Amino acid sequence: MISFRHMAVAVAVSCLLILTVCQISQAHFNKHIALFVFGDSLYDPGNNNYINTTPEFQANFFPYGESYFNPPSGRFSDGRLIPDFVAELAKLPLIPAYLDPRNKEFVYGANFASGGAGALVESHAGFVVDLKTQLQYFRDLEKQFRQNLGDSEAEQLLSDAVYLFSCGGNDYLSPVGNNESILYPYTHEEYVGMVIGNLTDVFKGIHERGGRKIGIVTVPPIGCWPSVRAGRPDNTCSEEIDIIVSLHNQELSQKLQELENQLEGFMYAKYDLNTAIRKRMKNPSKYGFKVGDSACCGSGPFGGIYSCGGKRGVKEFKLCKNASDYFFFDSNHPNEVASQQFANMFWNGDSSVTSPYNLKALFKGKQLPTSSGKLDL
Ligand SMILES: *[C@@H]1O[C@H](CO)[C@@H](O)[C@H](O)[C@H]1NC(C)=O
Ligand SMILES: *[C@@H]1O[C@H](CO)[C@@H](O)[C@H](O)[C@H]1NC(C)=O
Ligand SMILES: *[C@@H]1O[C@H](CO)[C@@H](O)[C@H](O)[C@H]1NC(C)=O
Repeated sequence: MISFRHMAVAVAVSCLLILTVCQISQAHFNKHIALFVFGDSLYDPGNNNYINTTPEFQANFFPYGESYFNPPSGRFSDGRLIPDFVAELAKLPLIPAYLDPRNKEFVYGANFASGGAGALVESHAGFVVDLKTQLQYFRDLEKQFRQNLGDSEAEQLLSDAVYLFSCGGNDYLSPVGNNESILYPYTHEEYVGMVIGNLTDVFKGIHERGGRKIGIVTVPPIGCWPSVRAGRPDNTCSEEIDIIVSLHNQELSQKLQELENQLEGFMYAKYDLNTAIRKRMKNPSKYGFKVGDSACCGSGPFGGIYSCGGKRGVKEFKLCKNASDYFFFDSNHPNEVASQQFANMFWNGDSSVTSPYNLKALFKGKQLPTSSGKLDL
C-alpha cells in the first residue's frame, strides 16, 4: 500500500520534471478535507440565532460562551463544542454556521446543526431547523459548490469530506406522552424505528450527493440529565428514557452496519458518547471534574431548571465560579472541557470507543474511486 504522504512526495518529485500538469495534482494532494455538521445542540454553533424561535432554543446570551467566545456565539456551552475540537484536530478553521449571513464560501465545510432538532420533523417543530431541512441546505450548498468549483472538484470535495452527526436525543425528550409511556400512542419499537428510519434517509441523501464518511455519536444518557431529574417528583432518573435510548443506540449500530454493506463506499465512525458521559457522571473526579450530576448554570434541584441566562421565563439562576468544575454547564449540556475530551476520543479512540473507524482514519484515509469501500490508510 502506498501511503498518502508517499504519493504526495512522489507527485512533488515528478513535478520537478513536468511542471504544469503536476501543479494541478500537487494542489489536489495538499487540499484539506471538508467537514459538514448536522444535528442538535451538542453541535449547533449558532444557527438558531438566525431563525424565528424562542430563548429556549437559543444560547446567544451571557453566561453562554464565557470560557471562550465573546460575545456569546450561540453555542449551548460555556465554550467550544465537539465539532470545534474536531476541526482543530483536522487542521481546519472553526466550521461556520450555515445560517450566519456573514458566511458565504464554506470551502472548509458548513455546520447545519440546530439546538432542539431531532430526526423527526415533529420534534420541537416550528422552533428548530429539523434534520430534513438541514439536508436540504446541504443540497443547496452542493449546487453552489458545483457552480463555483466545477463538477469534478465539487465531487472530490464531497466524497473526501467527513459528515458529523449528533441526533436523536430531542426525539425522546420532546414527546409528552402519558403516564403509561412517554411515547404514547407509539410503542418504543415503533417510535425508535421512525427515528432511525428518518436518520437513515438523511444518510442516504448525503450518500446520493457523493458523501461517504459519516461520524456519529450515540444518544447520551438523557434520562439522567439534570433537566429531566428536576422535572420528576422524586428527582430520580427516568428509567423509561434510559431504556428507549439503549434501544435507539442498538438499532443505530445495526443500521450503520447494514448501510456499510448496502451503500457503495459508505464508511463510518460511531463514537460511544453515551458510555463516555455515564462514566463522567458517575466518577467525575477521575476525569478532572468536581461535580458530575448537577449543572454549573441553572436553578432548582441539580441546577436542572433550564434557566441559565435568565431569559427563558425564570429570571433567577445560579452560576458556578468555574465552569470547568462541573461536567454539565447547563441543565442539558456538557461543558467545554468535556467536549474536548469527547472530541479527542472520537478522533483517536480505539475500537472500544469508536468503531469501526475513528475520525482520524476517516480524515487521513483517501476515498478510493473504486467501489471497494476500503480506505487506503
Ligand atoms: C394516569 O394515571 C391515573 C391515576 O394513576 C389514571 O387514572 C389515568 O387513567 C392514567 N392516564 C392514562 C392516560 O393512562
Ligand atoms: C419519518 O418520520 C415520520 C414522522 O415524522 C414517519 O411518519 C415516517 O414513517 C418516518 N420515516 C421512516 C423511513 O421511518
Ligand atoms: C478553573 O478550574 C480549572 C481546573 O480545575 C483550572 O485549571 C482553572 O485555572 C480554573 N479557572 C479559574 C478562572 O479559576
